[in-house]
Amino acid sequence: MPSLLTILHILQFIILLKLIQIPLYLSSNEGCENLFTCGNITNIGFPFWGANRPKECGYPLLNLTCIKNISYITINDVEYQVLEANPDLQTLRITREDSFQEGLCPPKHVSTTLDTDLFVYGPNYNNLTLFYGCPSSITFPSPSGQFQCHSNGYSDDIVYTWFGPNIGPLAFPCQDNMTVPVSLSLFDISNFAKIQSAIKDGFVVRWIAGIEDCMKCQNSGGFCGYDWISKQTTCYCRDQSCSNFIPVSNTPSGMSKYFC
Ligand SMILES: *[C@@H]1O[C@H](CO)[C@@H](O)[C@H](O)[C@H]1NC(C)=O
Ligand SMILES: *[C@@H]1O[C@H](CO)[C@@H](O)[C@H](O)[C@H]1NC(C)=O
Ligand SMILES: *[C@@H]1O[C@H](CO)[C@@H](O)[C@H](O)[C@H]1NC(C)=O
Ligand SMILES: *[C@@H]1O[C@H](CO)[C@@H](O)[C@H](O)[C@H]1NC(C)=O
Ligand SMILES: *[C@@H]1O[C@H](CO)[C@@H](O)[C@H](O)[C@H]1NC(C)=O
Repeated sequence: MPSLLTILHILQFIILLKLIQIPLYLSSNEGCENLFTCGNITNIGFPFWGANRPKECGYPLLNLTCIKNISYITINDVEYQVLEANPDLQTLRITREDSFQEGLCPPKHVSTTLDTDLFVYGPNYNNLTLFYGCPSSITFPSPSGQFQCHSNGYSDDIVYTWFGPNIGPLAFPCQDNMTVPVSLSLFDISNFAKIQSAIKDGFVVRWIAGIEDCMKCQNSGGFCGYDWISKQTTCYCRDQSCSNFIPVSNTPSGMSKYFC
């Protein structure tokens, strides 16, 4: 039988634990002043989180990881390496991780797509579409090209390329296709090495998530974050007195924003 005194001690301990939980929770919000830095990618803040930025500091899908000084982000299930980041212009230059590892003849073809609530494409790129397993009688409209992928598991080794704005409603009777944005400086769309290097050079995306709200928050001295439960941009203030947030706007969507 434990003595009454022991039980009291345990209760006291539990109460103490509850008390120290509160400051721990608040201090995790303050981590949003930390900027993500990894290799030559530096000073990335909101709307991203990851590494030394707690998840409350960014949008759920904007998770950066740092492995051996290389930064990665996953967008619509495709993993990208971040080659360059410019927080002032809100741009990232990203390249598909699979094109590094498997070249142009990967067994699985996943097109690059962006989550358009989070990113827009930068200027000076166009869509390169690669068609796999086409009937040998096929002809493509210009500007098209072709190269070979030996034994890549399709009915035909020839891969057809098409470089231009979206093909639109056209559909070609091929087994598979993959679209990747590449720089407009790609001219020779029949040259395997040039296509590969254009894909490796990646493309620029601009992040658009929560920018306006974040500017208001920063101007009021706060650190931008994201409330994963109410699903909106939020603002963390430097000291506890700022917990009396002031509602600044009632947006047409009915979401009120609070700033320091
Ligand atoms: C963050 O990203 C990495 C790699 O992209 C992934 O392994 C990890 O599960 C992600 N974390 C969360 C919570 O989504
Ligand atoms: C990452 O970069 C830093 C600074 O340039 C360097 O000191 C460190 O050794 C690098 N780490 C790895 C794993 O390459
Ligand atoms: C940063 O590092 C990546 C990978 O090592 C490299 O491809 C890129 O060109 C570098 N960017 C700058 C601005 O040095
Ligand atoms: C490239 O394809 C994407 C996805 O279909 C599309 O949103 C984008 O507008 C296309 N870009 C161009 C330049 O056609
Ligand atoms: C690319 O493949 C998808 C899925 O198989 C198909 O729906 C689409 O029509 C193809 N695109 C073109 C331009 O052939």
